Amino acid sequence: MAKTLSRYVDGIVVRTFGQDIVLELAKYADIPVINGLSDLSHPCQALSDIFTIKERLGRLKGVTLAYVGDGNNVCNSLMYAAAKTGMNLKIATPKRFGPNREIYEDTLDIAKKTGATINLSMMQERQSKTVMLFILMFWASMGKEKETWKRKILFGKFQVNKALISLAKPSVMIMHCLPAHRGQEITNEALDSRNSIVFDQAENRLHVQKAILIRLLGGYK
Ligand code: NVA
Repeated sequence: MAKTLSRYVDGIVVRTFGQDIVLELAKYADIPVINGLSDLSHPCQALSDIFTIKERLGRLKGVTLAYVGDGNNVCNSLMYAAAKTGMNLKIATPKRFGPNREIYEDTLDIAKKTGATINLSMMQERQSKTVMLFILMFWASMGKEKETWKRKILFGKFQVNKALISLAKPSVMIMHCLPAHRGQEITNEALDSRNSIVFDQAENRLHVQKAILIRLLGGYK
């Protein structure tokens, strides 16, 4: 059946939990399979996030960004995006909530060729002075909602708020893949501030997902 999918559809976007499900589907399908989100990775989010950064700053290489929150699928894919484009990514997560170790090591290898840097830390304040952008992730990712109460305690310090922004450059920008949890990973003051570009970022998901479809379906070379 999978080998004849092309008789019915031109491509599949799969949003699921296990990365193995995405890989298995891609292995048997005779059409493009796009990872719309898995537990391990979220390449569509990362691609549109770097599009937003490029749109704002005109470049990616040498841009310094801090990722604050859970070292989850979004973080894993952002590491690849940063490593491949020569960005400096500083990741602040609580202990035991860091990104996938294999991906981290893989991105360090890629970074050697592009000049990117990828740093892991448990302190967001230490990272702030040099960053041009904060990228945030909520404390309890999709599928982890039952752990919310526990994570509120562990992630309490990993909040983007006025105090943290005041440590960064005045021009620092704030990105969040949304939906935001006001008062948890981000305060109203930060989310609604002039530094926040979250709605541009959300709009760009639409444009970049269309670009991915065009590219994979053969409409644009
Ligand atoms: N806005 C994102 C959240 C990912 C965790 C999405 O739904 O793709």
